[in-house]
Amino acid sequence: MSTHDRLLIIDFGSQVTQLIARRLRELNVYCEIHPYQNVDDAFLTSFAPKAIIFSGGPDSVTRAGSPRPPANAFTLGVPILGICYGQQVMMQELGGLVESGHGTAEFGRAKVTESGTKLPLLDGWFTNGPEQVWMSHGDHVSRLAPGFEVYGTSPGAPFAITADVARNFFAVQFHPEVHHTPRGAQLYKNFVTLAGFTGDWSMASYREEAIAKIRAQVGDKKVICGLSGGVDSSVAAVLIHEAIGDQLTCVFVDHGLLRLNEAEEVVKMFRDTYNIPLIHADEAELFLGELDGVSDPETKRKIIGRLFIDVFQKYAGEIEGAEYLAQGTLYPDVIESVSFSGGPSVTIKSHHNVGGLPEKMGLKLVEPLRELFKDEVRALGRELGLPASFISRHPFPGPGLAIRCPGEITREKLDILRKADAVYLDQIRKHGLYDDIWQAFAAILPMRTVGVMGDGRTYDYALGLRAVTSVDGMTADYYPFTHDFLGETATRIINEVRGINRVFYDCTSKPPGTIELE
Ligand code: XMP
Repeated sequence: MSTHDRLLIIDFGSQVTQLIARRLRELNVYCEIHPYQNVDDAFLTSFAPKAIIFSGGPDSVTRAGSPRPPANAFTLGVPILGICYGQQVMMQELGGLVESGHGTAEFGRAKVTESGTKLPLLDGWFTNGPEQVWMSHGDHVSRLAPGFEVYGTSPGAPFAITADVARNFFAVQFHPEVHHTPRGAQLYKNFVTLAGFTGDWSMASYREEAIAKIRAQVGDKKVICGLSGGVDSSVAAVLIHEAIGDQLTCVFVDHGLLRLNEAEEVVKMFRDTYNIPLIHADEAELFLGELDGVSDPETKRKIIGRLFIDVFQKYAGEIEGAEYLAQGTLYPDVIESVSFSGGPSVTIKSHHNVGGLPEKMGLKLVEPLRELFKDEVRALGRELGLPASFISRHPFPGPGLAIRCPGEITREKLDILRKADAVYLDQIRKHGLYDDIWQAFAAILPMRTVGVMGDGRTYDYALGLRAVTSVDGMTADYYPFTHDFLGETATRIINEVRGINRVFYDCTSKPPGTIELE
């Protein structure tokens, strides 16, 4: 358990609860999100928060049986901030009144005007008149609970900002965690300051604590880590290696579907730079053999998934006495799996990682990143000295180039694709666009087209280029390259890569498309 000051976010199901945690982590405050169903009086006592935030949520407090916080949240003597549904539930529980609709629903931007006296929560607010905030509510507070006063109003929310200063209870109708509330971060800063947080959560301290925790958990036992070449598993491996040295062995399954020089780079970096014992499972023959003649996307994925588990198990089985399997599980995966809706994880990872392996192999899990968000993993990677170019890499799917080669996969096509993809990414890097793009890659299309080069006719493959912006891979927009960039890139690819004589750029967003072609 963390030794930091802790803030508890009780989740009532808002779409943006994770953003509250992001804002707080940016302030170096350690916080955890827990769905309201899991937070009872005993949990609160053991968690011992220094402050509590009630998130927003889709329900109506006027509905019997709607979510409530545990009663002793209000008697712990710690500051509480209620947001949207969190405000309403606070008022209702403390003796105020909440009503539905009546023409005062507000969605989107609204202006809040200051009223009453100065509130420390609002330091830095209203310096230039009314503040823009983002509202999303059907219900509204119509009578304050005893002890509360109004400090800000909007046209649809007469009680937009309220507080019981004596008890340090604050309640706002809008969402300070979203970007459309430009001074929201300041409000969170004021809240944690008045709650006495010192900003003691940093990557340097996290690194030390995580190392101590891994040592305590693992003792003198051995750990296996499946290395994919991606950021999460790499950071996990380097951290664990720092904690337990040669008790860690990494297994890198090379399915022959990696990008140009990728396998060599991964092996070199982990074996030579980090001195981590690494098994390079070069199983390209096996994977490509079984994929021979297969063109159905789902069948490809199933074959790769099955072989991956077999191969991993085979190599891991050679490491005598291993008791732990390391995984790069992140905090969003953890939240997702205990989420408000209780839904199964539908995130990117579910497609590929070694799901089911720990049970199958009788291994216990080491998950040193499970308290971190993706950008915090990157910060930890920097702290551990991983090269910047490695840390900012675009995501790469588990099935690799197999799903960027629609139709049948052949070695010839894979070779052409690797070269063309490398030229495309080189172009993106040279133009300084790599970090603006979530993911960019080439795909070799299952068709040949006619062209003319020099005095001759060509009949070669067509290449598709894809580049998207995204926040989490769940939705995406195509990247608006300039025509000059696209023209130059197409020319370079056709000049430098034999086997391609035509280049297309994919302008489909997701939805309706997906990011990968298969
Ligand atoms: P799609 O194509 O579903 O991709 O829009 C969304 C994100 O997920 C990645 N992706 C995968 N990652 N194993 C993975 O590890 C997979 O099977 C897989 N399929 C898609 C994709 O690269 C994008 O970032």
